Amino acid sequence: MELIYKIRKKAAGLNRKIVLPEGAEERTIQAADFLIAEGIADVILLGSKGRIKVEAERFGLKHITDDRVIDPYRLPDADVERYVEMMVALRGNKGVTYDIAAKQLQDSLYLASVMVKAGDADGAVAGAVNYTGDVLRPALQYVKTAPGISVVSGAFIMRIPDKTFGDGGTILFADCAVSPDPTAQQLAEIAISTARTARSIVGLEPRVAMLSFSTRGSAKHPLVDKVAEATEIARRLDPNLIIDGELQADAAIVPDIAERKSPGSRLGGRANILIFPSLEVGNIAYKLVQRLAHADAIGPVLQGMASPVNDLSRGCSIDDIINVVAITACQTSI
Ligand code: ACO
Repeated sequence: MELIYKIRKKAAGLNRKIVLPEGAEERTIQAADFLIAEGIADVILLGSKGRIKVEAERFGLKHITDDRVIDPYRLPDADVERYVEMMVALRGNKGVTYDIAAKQLQDSLYLASVMVKAGDADGAVAGAVNYTGDVLRPALQYVKTAPGISVVSGAFIMRIPDKTFGDGGTILFADCAVSPDPTAQQLAEIAISTARTARSIVGLEPRVAMLSFSTRGSAKHPLVDKVAEATEIARRLDPNLIIDGELQADAAIVPDIAERKSPGSRLGGRANILIFPSLEVGNIAYKLVQRLAHADAIGPVLQGMASPVNDLSRGCSIDDIINVVAITACQTSI
């Protein structure tokens, strides 16, 4: 798929350092070897040096050298001290003491997020063996959100065989992964974050539709009001963004229907970003489009964090890990 090769190439030009907390996992270590060999990213693996060495030998990997591995149980004292200081400063008010912070550092998922926060890595990727919530929580607690954004969300880059939709068949869907019931403010921020993802990862100029079961007041309901309000907030947050709402899905992606249901809309039925009113809708919609329309679904790309942390599916392939690391590297250029 040519988009993924463009993303890998862009990542290679950025030379970012990405930490992989599931360092001894067999797909992860093979992906790491490829990423280093191809220069797509500078990779750090977390885990036991002994186990990672055994795995590297088992697969005949040449690039997994000792200096790329950090054992959370054998961190240099100076690093422990530096990280613990930072963790307590960030979350002392949430009950994180020196002891709790030191204990958290022995958990690779926490260590990865803390390394990203400290600037010792540019991004992190995990989830080949851990659940979404366990990958996200340390990042939400320590990496935190980007300036002006209070909510983390997950976008899918959908590649639809029918090239008349979006930009040559590419449409971004969000939020499909993180926030179950966003407020109007959060929906607006999800739109802004997705527009950034579209620019930085896909190279698209965003055209955003805020979806509902109503088009411009055709139905009256508090849920409709929420999407209309979110559209207004997003316009205030980014006055230059092409955005319209509230819109039904057909008015968002079919020009003829847009002409009838929302005449004068700058979108004109040509949205390349669809923002769903809740996680239920977004998650169900991307899976239906993936299956029924035979679309490729790249993601979720987690967006809105101060530095990128991405979650893998536990069913991921080596290629999936390579691609998510490349996407993570590209997100650092937002
Ligand atoms: N954006 C920003 N910060 C957040 C978010 C968010 N979306 N959600 C939680 N936080 C913050 C909280 O404010 C809190 O911060 P604080 O400790 O500084 O006060 C911290 O993160 C922890 O929040 P909790 O609510 O305690 O965390 P929780 O254990 O509930 O987990 C999580 C949050 C993991 C995101 C949860 O909402 C979740 O599981 N979401 C659904 C994920 C999912 O299952 N997605 C579908 C599958 S993925 C797929 O199909 C592709």
